[in-house]
Amino acid sequence: FHLDIDPAQTDKGAYPYYMLKEIDEQAVVARTLAGHYFNDEGEIVGIGCGIGDTIKQADRLYIIAAGTSYHAGLVGKRYFENWANIPTEVHIASEFAYDQPLLSEHPFFIFLSQSGETADSREVLDNIKRQGFPTLTIANVMNSTLTREADFALPVLAGPEIAVASTKAYTAQIIVQAILAYSLGDVELDLKQELAKVAVEIQAITDEKMTFQAIAESALQNQHSAFYIGRGMDAAVALEAALKLKEISYIQTEGFAAGELKHGTISLIEEGTPVFALLTQAKTAGLLRGEVAQVAARGANTITISSKSLARPDDAYVLPEVDELLMPLLAVIPAQLIAYYATLARGLDVDRPRNLAKSVTVQ
Ligand code: G6P
Repeated sequence: FHLDIDPAQTDKGAYPYYMLKEIDEQAVVARTLAGHYFNDEGEIVGIGCGIGDTIKQADRLYIIAAGTSYHAGLVGKRYFENWANIPTEVHIASEFAYDQPLLSEHPFFIFLSQSGETADSREVLDNIKRQGFPTLTIANVMNSTLTREADFALPVLAGPEIAVASTKAYTAQIIVQAILAYSLGDVELDLKQELAKVAVEIQAITDEKMTFQAIAESALQNQHSAFYIGRGMDAAVALEAALKLKEISYIQTEGFAAGELKHGTISLIEEGTPVFALLTQAKTAGLLRGEVAQVAARGANTITISSKSLARPDDAYVLPEVDELLMPLLAVIPAQLIAYYATLARGLDVDRPRNLAKSVTVQ
């Protein structure tokens, strides 16, 4: 298939790799999305009422995606449940396609995709259309199979993403889901203003590249395995953080719901094993501190990335604070940069990891 890419927009410029450029573009993408989906009065304008009216008739949302887009869906689920009050399930496309779960009476399907061409997701869309259920695609490439064939489509507006490891499409997909969920509910939050803050803080984090280069080089040099842990939304981000690190650096990395470690996986912790803890959710911060202490007691090198109000003096990095549900948009940035610098330090091709394709059009 053919990707519609404007060569002017795909120039790496002064960047050594597209991935770094795309990480840096995330602040601009957040602003672009706020500008596209809201008017000057802070009202939502970019979502047609057909979408809202149809979703409001649904008793359950099913988010279908693959890879990084699936991880974005795990975060998006929280917006649909917390802000729009609609039960939401997130499914891996390649599983759902051949093992369809029992559906609710009035399901609504959301397909999340950077390329809009992922074969596994297309297979599910075909199946669902045959069953007659309403569908929406949220994609970065708008004239793609998934956007054309769904009933509705919303743009992710991240601009062309060239590096195989997805970065800006992830944060942009999260933002579009947040805006959609916000449009369906009655939330005590000025989301447009909050997104402006998110953009400023993403910029602040990406301005501290040297910090993450130092963390990557000290914690990951000569390591063959690593962990990212968190709870709730941080557990969802831990999966994406781990995928970033492993897919390009080839360091085997597991993203884990922190409370589950003690049920087996903690036996893998050895002297010096890097364990990155993402700590941005107040409700579980105390429990997560306990889990960090448990792995540290078994020799792990713990690197905690916390949000400002939950921080402790020896945390490796303290994130600025935005609305707690939007913290994944900030928490993932250090992980992207750590993955980038760990890979660079190994002398590998950051943009083109072995065995991977940007878009997987076969099942
Ligand atoms: C490929 C890419 C991943 C991406 C996944 C889903 O495996 O390498 O980065 O997350 O496909 O692609 P999509 O275009 O549907 O988001």
